Amino acid sequence: MNGGARAEVVVDLDAIAANTAALRERVGRPLMAVVKADGYGHGLVPAARAALAGGADALGVAVLEEALALRAAGVPAPLLAWLHTPGTDYAAALTADVEVSVNAEWALAEVVAAARATGRTAAVHLFADTGLSREGATEAEWPGLVAAAARAQADGDVAVVGLWSHMAYADAPTHPTIGAQVRAFEEAVALARAAGLREARLHLANSAATVALPDTWYDMVRPGIAVYGLDPLGGDPAAHGLRPAMTVRARAALTKRVPAGVGVSYGHTYFPERETTLLLVPVGYADGVPRAAGNRAPVLAAGVHRTIAGRVCMDQFVLDVGDAEVHAGDEVVLWGPGDGGEPTAQDWADAVDTIHYELVTRIGGRFTRRYVGSAGAV
Ligand SMILES: Cc1ncc(COP(=O)(O)O)c(C=O)c1O
Repeated sequence: MNGGARAEVVVDLDAIAANTAALRERVGRPLMAVVKADGYGHGLVPAARAALAGGADALGVAVLEEALALRAAGVPAPLLAWLHTPGTDYAAALTADVEVSVNAEWALAEVVAAARATGRTAAVHLFADTGLSREGATEAEWPGLVAAAARAQADGDVAVVGLWSHMAYADAPTHPTIGAQVRAFEEAVALARAAGLREARLHLANSAATVALPDTWYDMVRPGIAVYGLDPLGGDPAAHGLRPAMTVRARAALTKRVPAGVGVSYGHTYFPERETTLLLVPVGYADGVPRAAGNRAPVLAAGVHRTIAGRVCMDQFVLDVGDAEVHAGDEVVLWGPGDGGEPTAQDWADAVDTIHYELVTRIGGRFTRRYVGSAGAV
């Protein structure tokens, strides 16, 4: 671990770049790296720069603030922001050359107003809801949206540069919704083309579809989690040429010898069966270590995976390390790429009954973030 760091999240920029390159190579077409949610917990700007260094053609974020933060940091790449509420400052988006997604005619009207106010043409991606029932225009709303967008395009207020959708079940590559969503997407595209939106590029594939469903690749893929080296299908990322970019570790704050049968941590949900050494790890749920990890998740300490002993507290948790020779200051690893014997984010996800996405995006709090590798570093 670095110097005297108490707890750190180490992000391997070269892994992000190499993962991006591997995915880009696999699909052989443009790739939008998704860097929302602070680069899935890896750092918005460094993750974006590393993905671009690895060959990403564009960046995707959820909200406009994320896009503007990238621009403020001097990231010039094509950039799409897709989650907006009424009253969003589309003028700021247009001024910063940020492409925006549109779900509905009322949102298109706001974008058109911003285009007129700024004298710029808005680059928009029209979002079709093909079965996720989340963002996007429904089948009933789509004809009205594409007709309005075609008018706005003819007026020079918008350029429809994308037609897109998002998948519900790409992580289950044989699920029947996949074919249904592809058919719905192609019907939506045909309607848009018939309305005159001929230039727009098509994109549908998230990470799971990028690794598993070539029929969904269209003109561009849009992976997020795979860029950070985690397997969207829940298996071994190496099978897709990916390497996890995040390692989470901490130094022991204290060790102590205790007799058999002591109650450990709040609520005494753990009792060592024999005299043992307890090791105190100075990170807790306020730092993004799930409280549900108590008595469930594995941590590498003194060369062995140890299940967290008792409840995770706000700032700390305890490990039972038996008779291992350990000392305050020794390093423990919560998760990492796995090749140093440490658990992976997938191991934690399995133990805690969540997904690695949630773990990496929530880890933070008082961890220090440190970057290794040089991809995209300025
Ligand atoms: C619209 C959209 N596209 C792409 C992604 C990337 O998904 P994944 O991280 O599964 O690749 C997301 C993330 O949730 C998303 O919301």
